[in-house]
Parts: sequence; C-alpha cells; structure tokens
Amino acid sequence: MTKPWRTYLLWFAQEHVEFRVAEIDSLLSLFNIEMRFTHKPVTEPYWIVEFASERDVQLLASRSVSLRNCLELWGHEKEVWKLHEKLKCYPRNLMDPYLQPNKSFKIEVETFCKHFTQKEKVDKIETFSYLPVQGPVDLRNPDVILQYIEYYGTVANNPPELPYDVFFGRWVASGLRQLIKKLSLKTRKFIGNTSMDPQLSLLMANQAKIKNGDIVLDPFVGSGSLLVAAAEFGGYVFGTDIDYLMLHGRTRPSRIAQKKREKDESIRANMKQYNLEHRYLDVLVNDFAMQFWREGCKFDAIVTDPPYGIREATERVGTSKENYTVSEEHLPTHIPAKIEYGISNIYKDLLSFSAKHLKVGGRVVCWFPVFRQDYNEDGLPSHPCLKLVANCEQTLTKVTARRLLTFEKLRDPTEQELNMDHKEITDFREKYFVVREETRKERRMKEARVREENRLQHIRDKV
Ligand SMILES: C[S@@+](CC[C@H](N)C(=O)[O-])C[C@H]1O[C@@H](n2cnc3c(N)ncnc32)[C@H](O)[C@@H]1O
Repeated sequence: MTKPWRTYLLWFAQEHVEFRVAEIDSLLSLFNIEMRFTHKPVTEPYWIVEFASERDVQLLASRSVSLRNCLELWGHEKEVWKLHEKLKCYPRNLMDPYLQPNKSFKIEVETFCKHFTQKEKVDKIETFSYLPVQGPVDLRNPDVILQYIEYYGTVANNPPELPYDVFFGRWVASGLRQLIKKLSLKTRKFIGNTSMDPQLSLLMANQAKIKNGDIVLDPFVGSGSLLVAAAEFGGYVFGTDIDYLMLHGRTRPSRIAQKKREKDESIRANMKQYNLEHRYLDVLVNDFAMQFWREGCKFDAIVTDPPYGIREATERVGTSKENYTVSEEHLPTHIPAKIEYGISNIYKDLLSFSAKHLKVGGRVVCWFPVFRQDYNEDGLPSHPCLKLVANCEQTLTKVTARRLLTFEKLRDPTEQELNMDHKEITDFREKYFVVREETRKERRMKEARVREENRLQHIRDKV
C-alpha cells in the first residue's frame, strides 16, 4: 500500500524571490521528486506543499539555497485560537511517534517581520502546554523540534497588531543558507572585481542541475566563483578566460585595504580553501571566440557570466589591420592585439558552443544584461537545440537588470545548425553608456537648479 501524501511548510529566505520557483523546479527535476502545491506561492516567504515521502523533503532541502527550513505542517490558520483548536484535533497517531518519553524535544517560536522579546516568546511557548509531549526538554540537541511561526507580512517597519497567518509543525530539514556564509567573498582567498556572490553562484549551480561526477565548464571563468559553487555540488570543474593576469592572480587587488596580491592567490587556492581541490580540473587562458576543444568533447553543464562590457571589456583576439603577420622571431613573445567581441557575438558563440558541446539533457546557465524598459523575451538569445527552461530577473539599477537564463539541450545540432546564422541581439553596452551619460547630465542639471534656487533664496532672505 502506498503511504499517504503529507503536508509540509517550506519557508524561504526573502531574498532573490524571483529565483525561488526556478531553483525548486530544477531540484525537483534533478532528484526526480514530485511535489504538489496546496498553497500557490505569490510573494509570501512560504509555500504549503505535499510530498509522498519525508526523504523527498530532506533531499530537496539538502540542495536548496533559497530554502530556510521545512516543517511537517500540523496546523495553519489565520487566527491563533483556531490554530490551537486545530492542533488539539490533530490525529494522535501522526503526532505520537515524535512525542514519546524517549524523545527529547524543544519548541521554537519564529515571528516573521515583528520582533518579540525572549519573555514574550516563552509566553507563546507556554500556550502549547496541552500538547501530549512525554519526553524531556532539550534546548541544545533535541530529537524533535516543534516550531510555531507567526507571519506578520513582509513590511518590517509597519507590521499589523495580529499575525496574518500562524503555523505549527515539526521541523524536518534546513536548507543550505549556512553555505552562503561559508563561501563568503569577504573571507575568500582570491577574488576579482566581478566575482559572483556565493548565493547567486549556488543558485546557478542548482539551475544547472549539477550532480556528483559532472564535468562543468565556465568559459568566462574570471576568479572562478562559479567553479567553487559547482564543485560544492560534486562537479569536476574547468574554466577558461582571455585574461592571463586574472588567471595568474596578478590583476590589481580588489579589496580596498589590500595593496598587493599575495603570491599564492589563484582559483586553485580557493578550491583548497574549501577542501575542493580534488574537484578542480584546471583553468586555461583562451579566447572563447577561438575554439580549441575536440569535436566530440562533451560537458554535463556550462555555467557562466559573460562580460557585458561595463566593468570588463568584451574583447576577442584579432586585428583590424589588413594582411597582418608576425615574423617568426617575434612569435614567442608576441602578445596578440584585441578587437571588440560584442554582446551579440558572445551569446551567439555561447549558445552554438553549448548546442555542440553539452550532453543531451545538459544545461547552460548564463546571465544576460537587459534594459528593463526594453525587455522582451523575443530579444533573448536562442538556439533550436536549446530550450529556455528558466528566466529570472535580478534588478541592478532603476533601468537595468540582468536575467539568469537556463537552457536545456534537447538534441545534437544538424550540420546546417552548426553553421547557422543567429539573430542579432541588441547591444546592451551601447545603450548603457548613452543612458548613463543622459542620467549624469540630468543629475548635473538638477544639481545646478537646486544650487540656483538656494542662491536666490539666500538673496531673498537677506532682503
Ligand atoms: C563577468 S566576468 C566573470 C566573472 C566570474 N564569474 C567570477 O566570478 O570572477 C567575465 C570574464 O570574461 C572574460 N572574458 C572577456 N572576453 C573574453 C573572451 N573573448 N574569451 C574568454 N574570456 C573572456 C573576462 O576576462 C572576465 O574575467
């Protein structure tokens, strides 16, 4: 006989809210887990869902960065008294296994968006004294954690008198929030100006469905932040970048207080710092526009943050001079010239490369810069062999954003598709500098107007 589905409360961190659905969908698909919604999410930090087995919830939480924790839900109401009534009627056979004399326990109180003193929290705990718990209280290392949550909305500075929702349940698992702290850029050995923060790097690795033993590539690797996250989830990682100085840890230090880079700063040193060196394949100086990979070489996943041309150049090896040659004697020390690569060509190359070098079912996860006002899904890069499975926005400024695109490879490209023409993509960079100049001009004019008004006011005051 199959076990009945149980109801669970998934409580999320209220950060990168738009990425939540995509992350959970990717993990459900990675672990082949089925989840049913009881409460469809809107903007609240919680979902009420059903799973066929507790193991599924634990698996999901073992990889989720968005998730704070999961409870087996024993009661959810709008009013506190109703929650107590509900709990008093909760089937004993479902509760009893966790309330036995040999099981130590504690009750925790969480209040979302409203602060309560410890004394007030203890008073709230006392209201659950009717629960038929038989084991001893253990506040440090209990066998069972019961949790009571009061939800006061998401506007911290003006919470309502009474909670909107109250929940009670048994803690089942916590998400991976502690990993974000462990991988913090503040304490990382080697970082660059565009190092990706750990939370987003881990979200990308989850979007890529990285699992133990996967071969993962970042072709615009920079300081290797995405490799760290991919290796944390079991990937064997490889990176390439055009910037020799970056890959050799010789660029100017990114930390204000640091005058000189330490001798041993490198992506490998980061891997060592996190005990992930055994997952590190290597990095190589390479212009992505000039491919060197064997025809049949396949990756399980590609995770990358290509340059947008704002904080780093979008360049490729090349020259605008006609019939340019380098003499034999200068070849060994020759540093090739560079020309503009362009966003359109970068994404065209990235998707063509992914269509060719990903395994079928593998994913490429990449950031794509947009002007929020102009954004239109038709303007995104695309390829007939890749299906866009997720597309989440991270707002950067009032007018700009970047979107995390996740493509899944459907099939290998045909001969024709290997050499196909791609649609042009609007160059974010060109408009960025025009808009930035306009914004600066507007700001300068506004400041001049304010100065003039102050001057006139000063004269009026004197008169
Ligand atoms: C946004 S950064 C990547 C940052 C990286 N995710 C990290 O965490 O440090 C983009 C990188 O692309 C590299 N790049 C620019 N043009 C390139 C090219 N033609 N081929 C390969 N890498 C290139 C830059 O040197 C830069 O390191």
